[in-house]
Amino acid sequence: MAMTTLPERVRKDFPILDREVHGKPLVYLDNAASAQKPLAVIEGQREYLANYHANIHRGAHHLAQLATEAYEGGRSKIAAHINASGTEEIIFTAGSTDAINLVAQAWGRANLTSGDTVLVTRMEHHANIVPWQMVCAEKGAQVVPVNVLEDGTLDLDDYRRALEQHQPKLVGFVHASNTLGTINPVSELTALAKKAGAVTLIDGSQAVPHLAIDVQAIGCDFYVGTGHKAYGPTGIGFLFGRREILEAMPPWRGGGEMIKRVSFDGTTYNGLPHKFEAGTPHISGGIALGIAIDWINGVGVEAITAHETALVQHAHAALGTLPGLRIIGTATEKVGVVSLVVDGLHPYDLGTLLDGQGFAVRTGHHCTEPLMDHLGLESGTLRMSFAAYTTREEIDRAVIALERAINMLR
Ligand SMILES: Cc1ncc(COP(=O)(O)O)c(C=O)c1O
Repeated sequence: MAMTTLPERVRKDFPILDREVHGKPLVYLDNAASAQKPLAVIEGQREYLANYHANIHRGAHHLAQLATEAYEGGRSKIAAHINASGTEEIIFTAGSTDAINLVAQAWGRANLTSGDTVLVTRMEHHANIVPWQMVCAEKGAQVVPVNVLEDGTLDLDDYRRALEQHQPKLVGFVHASNTLGTINPVSELTALAKKAGAVTLIDGSQAVPHLAIDVQAIGCDFYVGTGHKAYGPTGIGFLFGRREILEAMPPWRGGGEMIKRVSFDGTTYNGLPHKFEAGTPHISGGIALGIAIDWINGVGVEAITAHETALVQHAHAALGTLPGLRIIGTATEKVGVVSLVVDGLHPYDLGTLLDGQGFAVRTGHHCTEPLMDHLGLESGTLRMSFAAYTTREEIDRAVIALERAINMLR
């Protein structure tokens, strides 16, 4: 039911979907890279900039109060949306990359020592690999990857073995893979990591726009998300950290906002969450991310999940009819991401021909080069990724356009 009604119900909220590209109606299938913005988000940001812009927290005047309330309102909405136990557990960041770097630099530098291990998976985005490589190089620690199976699911046996063998200090994994679509069993992975005595960090970049999230039920220590994939603006995201772990963690960036008192005899730091938020933040971004979350909840996150699950099944079936085409990532539990390769053809050439027909898809390694190496996909994949506004008919048209592109190149 949701499958036929959801996209029609929300498409009017997205003015960009009415535009043409190269004289053809736009079919936007690059949502895993960045989702389009509903009018409420566009207007909410404009309203702040036009009517109540001021710096937050430190002003006694009316506009500063309005801006502070709206920005802190965004934080409350994120906290409620992922079921954090309070707003002090939500740190605004510039995105997921920034959030993971914060943990690597603040928690990692304070807790990792020579010989330690950080365990990640081979399906991680570079954002959950490189910050760990950087801090591990500094500390004489190592980053160890857990294997991914042929169907794009995590090798749970290898995960258990690695936990036992390496006794990692921290385990990091994606909630949902941006390249394979695989939804990882995050509660199970967290429980196993905790049993092994590790701190857990979940990269929820691809989960926030598609799935209901409950960080308390999952039991993780850290959870990160990014606004622009969840119908919000770029340059804003969040780090959830359990209160105790954040309290024990030293700050990373220093400056205004993150201090209680500064003197040349010594500086004392602010409480949570401000201890980790130095300088003037992305105020309109925080406000608009809150509006994006309201939008998701207005549509209904369960309806979005059901819609995208149905779209993935439909896309798998329809693409399966094209000769020489192989879907990369066939886990039963997937978000709206379909990666594929076609025998003998370069994904970039196919992507370029699709663009000429109005279809926006992404090609390459999708910032998961170690995964591509592991799967032996030197040229990467062509990825179609869906959102609440994606229709079944758009997928059907994309399959026809892809067939045309394949025939042109053969
Ligand atoms: C799984 C995953 N992690 C992290 C990121 C990085 O997000 P951002 O660039 O918004 O920081 C992305 C973006 O592609 C992603 O898909």
